[in-house]
Amino acid sequence: MDRRIKRLAGSEIAALREELEQTRQQLNDLRVGNYAVELLLGRTGRGSHRMPTKGQMKTLTDEVREVTDVATAERQVHQAYRTLVVLEALGAGRVAGGTMNVVGKLSTITLLKPPNDEVLEIGTLHGLFAAALARQLISDGRTPSLTIVDPLADVQLQPGHVVAADPSGTPVAEQVVRANLTLSGLAQDRLRLRRGFSDAPEVRSTVSDRQYGVIIVDGDHSEEGVRQDLEWAETIAASGGIVVLDDYTDRNWPGVAAAAEKHLAGDTRFTYIGRTATTGFLRVR
Ligand SMILES: C[S@@+](CC[C@H](N)C(=O)[O-])C[C@H]1O[C@@H](n2cnc3c(N)ncnc32)[C@H](O)[C@@H]1O
Repeated sequence: MDRRIKRLAGSEIAALREELEQTRQQLNDLRVGNYAVELLLGRTGRGSHRMPTKGQMKTLTDEVREVTDVATAERQVHQAYRTLVVLEALGAGRVAGGTMNVVGKLSTITLLKPPNDEVLEIGTLHGLFAAALARQLISDGRTPSLTIVDPLADVQLQPGHVVAADPSGTPVAEQVVRANLTLSGLAQDRLRLRRGFSDAPEVRSTVSDRQYGVIIVDGDHSEEGVRQDLEWAETIAASGGIVVLDDYTDRNWPGVAAAAEKHLAGDTRFTYIGRTATTGFLRVR
């Protein structure tokens, strides 16, 4: 009897050893796979990683549904995530901001059905967000026409902040923005790049020639900068249009909310309709 127990125990140990060896092998394979995913989606070279959890995507989808009133928003949210990943992988430089913030902006703007296809982005960095948005709008059957205002000063400028080298190492430059925009499929004659500051009279005079269905306020993040951009936006936003306030609830940029709240408390065509991640959305009367 004792010898039989010993024999059984011996064969069990061999089976356990075999199982342990297989598990070790599987773990190694997973580590290799994880590293490749980290290379594709990790934060090196862009500051934020692109690996959201299921819970984060669900929370974001709920926020997008809330702002847009579109029950089927999940499809656009997932498509927006793929657009972000692909454009950052192929493009030069990076999209600024955390994954949920970028995906929220991309899906919500499209779902809010802007009244026309004229899009103004104030502050573009490498132009990759603009490219991703153009892609989203094209996927929705629209023919976007993009106007971009940015000093294109080689680096990102922010009043009151030390100019730091970009984590991507890519310059903030016209040729970079133009190259990135080709990835969106947008025809060159539907892209207008106005180099300069958004409060400069010569910039405003060329860009104020139309009413925009979408205005993205993502340039100077100081209270004074956002105040001036919102004042200008009042005069160039199309009726029914969308104003997007980037970093509206981001604690690193308190000037955005301060300026927006003061602006919304005054005489304005804008109504706050909600937020996704740290982006605020306004609808134009
Ligand atoms: C946060 S980045 C824009 C990010 C881009 N929209 C994105 O989503 O990837 C801000 C950009 O605005 C530019 N900028 C700063 N002040 C500006 C101003 N007054 N007018 C226009 N652009 C400005 C910065 O140099 C920088 O390129």
